[in-house]
Amino acid sequence: MTVAHKILILDFGSQYTQLIARRVREGRVYSEIFPHHASLSAIEAFQPRGIILSGGPASVYARNAPTIDRRVLDLGIPVLGICYGMQLLTSLLGGRVAKAARREFGHAELVVDEREGLFSGIQNEAADAGVLSCRVWMSHGDRIESMPTGFHAIGHTVNSPVAAMADPRRKLYAIQFHPEVAHTPQGRAIVDQFVHTICGCSSTWTMGSFRKETVASLAEQLKGQRAICALSGGVDSSVAAMLVHEAIGPRLMCVFVDNGLLRKGESAKVVDTFRKTMQLRVTRVDASSRFLSKLARIEDPERKRRVIGREFIRVFEAEAAKHANIGWLVQGTLYPDVIESVSVRGPSATIKTHHNVGGLPSRMKFKLVEPLRELFKDEVRLLGAELGMPEELLYRQPFPGPGLAVRILGRVTPDRLAVLRDADAIVLEEIKRAGLYRSMWQAFAVLLPVKSVGVMGDERTYDNVIAVRAVSSTDGMTAEWVRLPYEVLGAIANRIVNEVKGVNRVVYDISNKPPSTIEWE
Ligand code: XMP
Repeated sequence: MTVAHKILILDFGSQYTQLIARRVREGRVYSEIFPHHASLSAIEAFQPRGIILSGGPASVYARNAPTIDRRVLDLGIPVLGICYGMQLLTSLLGGRVAKAARREFGHAELVVDEREGLFSGIQNEAADAGVLSCRVWMSHGDRIESMPTGFHAIGHTVNSPVAAMADPRRKLYAIQFHPEVAHTPQGRAIVDQFVHTICGCSSTWTMGSFRKETVASLAEQLKGQRAICALSGGVDSSVAAMLVHEAIGPRLMCVFVDNGLLRKGESAKVVDTFRKTMQLRVTRVDASSRFLSKLARIEDPERKRRVIGREFIRVFEAEAAKHANIGWLVQGTLYPDVIESVSVRGPSATIKTHHNVGGLPSRMKFKLVEPLRELFKDEVRLLGAELGMPEELLYRQPFPGPGLAVRILGRVTPDRLAVLRDADAIVLEEIKRAGLYRSMWQAFAVLLPVKSVGVMGDERTYDNVIAVRAVSSTDGMTAEWVRLPYEVLGAIANRIVNEVKGVNRVVYDISNKPPSTIEWE
């Protein structure tokens, strides 16, 4: 990005590093994460207005403790050290770090000793108006025993006499707690104060500015050339396509592969939206019978995934081969994929290439264009809104690449697909009717490989069982089952057994992830 005001975050392997980048960006200032061993020249080339040193699991006095190029501290750029970052600053500048008598983990009361500077945005949370204090989140075993020359303490807790310190002359700041996590309610105010006041960044990073700049640079990069994009119906590939489309217009060709494993009515609806509302040039390839015949006798979930992935590549390749003069492949890779693949262990670590849609083959001779690789998911949604993407696509719940095949336990047949589609449509309709669709990560139906006995009218039935699943999650890595109101569950179950032929029983899945997964296969 060529934005003028940027913050660089040097990563020491904390699980919270991405949150630092997000807190900075929420203040509308662009930030990027580099591994801690980034070279001095790479750091200077990035031209940050401020540097934040993240936390990390190591101890500064351990052998091979991760560190930075010491000259970074002489560049005159303001630095904020967080947790491990604070301890590193201390040890690099001649102070002393030692193991604390007690590990400090969880909430702590930070008493602010200096109200100007880093903490000037803090509102008092204490009952006693004579002190200024706020809740912060701690997670450390080491602490500062003596500060480096030039520093003074600006905050303390019961266990950490130096919970925060500053050397305003050199613009070096350090805090023992984590301002980036939600458990530090006023953390944003601290990050904002560092970014805006101390580093002097102004709030110019908006999705409007990102759109303008990215479109201009894509137009330059793809000048006179053609690109292809595999649309899945998900937010990421759609927003990526819209950006590239804005830059090169009809020179972008999109392919939508209908694998026959989509939800009821979705294939037609999604393609219609791409064409009419988003003005994209989309070729719809109906490959459903091909996918279904390949899946015919397969029961094993991993084999299903492999077969579907392989067929997707074949279909896409065949479509691409019809357009010999296309040089670029557009992918909706996001920032978390990029940073997760950067190891903090050593400069030899490489960034692996991510493939969003089905894992496209490397033997295809395309150059990759990934216009979203600097964005987080919520930023992609904002950008989609900025680009005029319709809400139903923008807030569509995630849907797995292998589609309904991993929600039909056992063999996938046209009949079983029809049963699942109808049941699934009812689940979504009722959840939308109750106004709950956007409050959860995913909701769907699963067709079980068992039959149960029931009674309908005066007749005994021996039919399928549908499981209903609804989960909340922030990233799909962990998930909790949603406490759906009984009325909603009742309406779903009633409608499914009454309206879907071949189903006589509905159960609700109340397992969390872990230990379960979100999908059943
Ligand atoms: P699990 O079942 O692993 O799912 O808890 C986590 C999230 O990932 C989605 N998922 C997939 N997405 N291809 C995808 O594009 C896949 O093979 C796949 N498997 C699971 C799932 O829907 C959930 O949101």
